Amino acid sequence: MPTHSNVNRAIRDASPALDALLSELGRAAEYPPDIPFQAAQARSVSLNATIGQITDGSGGILALKAVSEQLGSLADRHLDAALLYSPVEGDPELRRLWARHHRPSGAAGAGSSLPLVTIGLTEALSLVADLCCDRGRAVLVPAPFWGNYRQIFGLRRGASIVPVEVIRERRFEARAIVEAVHSQPEGEPVVLILNFPSNPLGYSPTVDERTELVEGLVRAAEARPILAICDDAYSGLVFEDGVPSESLYWSLVGRHPSLLPVKIDGATKELVLFGARVGFLTFPFPRDSAVAIAVESKLKCLLRASVGSPVALSQRLVVETLRTPGVEDEVATVREILGRRYRCLKEALAAADPRLLRPVAFNSGCFAVLDLPDGLDSEKVRRRLLADYDTGVVSLGGSYLRLAYCSVKEESLGTLIERIESCLSAMLSE
Ligand SMILES: Cc1ncc(COP(=O)(O)O)c(C=O)c1O
Repeated sequence: MPTHSNVNRAIRDASPALDALLSELGRAAEYPPDIPFQAAQARSVSLNATIGQITDGSGGILALKAVSEQLGSLADRHLDAALLYSPVEGDPELRRLWARHHRPSGAAGAGSSLPLVTIGLTEALSLVADLCCDRGRAVLVPAPFWGNYRQIFGLRRGASIVPVEVIRERRFEARAIVEAVHSQPEGEPVVLILNFPSNPLGYSPTVDERTELVEGLVRAAEARPILAICDDAYSGLVFEDGVPSESLYWSLVGRHPSLLPVKIDGATKELVLFGARVGFLTFPFPRDSAVAIAVESKLKCLLRASVGSPVALSQRLVVETLRTPGVEDEVATVREILGRRYRCLKEALAAADPRLLRPVAFNSGCFAVLDLPDGLDSEKVRRRLLADYDTGVVSLGGSYLRLAYCSVKEESLGTLIERIESCLSAMLSE
């Protein structure tokens, strides 16, 4: 059983950078040797009186028929795995399957932990925030960004969110991210969120931009520990040639001992399973190494203290989904549908008045951002679209308006753009 001092020592010995990044909570956390720990050790004994699950006495769930009848084929083959508690770190089969689903062969793949299962990507982000953020920790976030980062890192952990403006003249500037890291006080550890394809921009760096970013971060890690959180919520949704779709995580892992990427991904968008709440968190340490075990011990402690364990039923659903022949073709079909919506939106925007509709560069994901004409406020435009044009979009504040084209039919995208164009034109002439 790891002890407090030796989990921290394993981290310090293998990764002084992670040691420097640990929050007070992260340093204190360690998976306790209480019920789930003792129950896991007793999994194969004939009389298991450890965990308070209501079973048939032989390890099987004593399920209500009213429950099991709802589960269809899952109940026939996997009733116990679906309805008993999941291990705190997640279903072992799901962890292996997800790793295989995402991992390139070779050194980068071998140098990473097995993914820990979380309740959606949100909880994975929150666990990393618990582990590495105290009051005042700088969290650099390319802006505009997904607003929930403020709650996860700022509100809950007191971290200091530093928005990094990456859009200049409606184009993406990778160098702004590296410059922002350099501008932090000398030697100070930083957390950096890298969300590509991004929400709200719908942008992924091109090959050259990715090289500039990766090499810049490797150089910046000479001066300070950097935790680079790769939020891969929209993984694989890339619609242009010359834009890599593989996670940035795989370009960062193993590049510098002070540059620690973590990979956060999940079934939410990748398997179109929004309500199942299955996410994953992967660390850049080889599975079964002392440091991987130590980090997992801390994360399991934090997870147990917040949600208990990940949802068994959803995990089983994902296991069975990943094992279903043809699932990859189905995922590809969804991506094609989104790709067609992407191209359709591009065409509609190209045909609109360029003084009114000014898209910020986008090439991937689910969204596009419009930079509104001078003098128009995005919140006022949003309300007007809702009140007078029967149209809902998201105001990002200032001049940015976000369109989630992933949830609009291909044939309606032209109408969406026409309505926005009419609304902007009316508001400008008032
Ligand atoms: C960039 C980004 N990260 C994380 C999440 C959260 O994902 P989940 O719903 O799996 O918690 C979202 C959801 O919209 C997102 O856009």
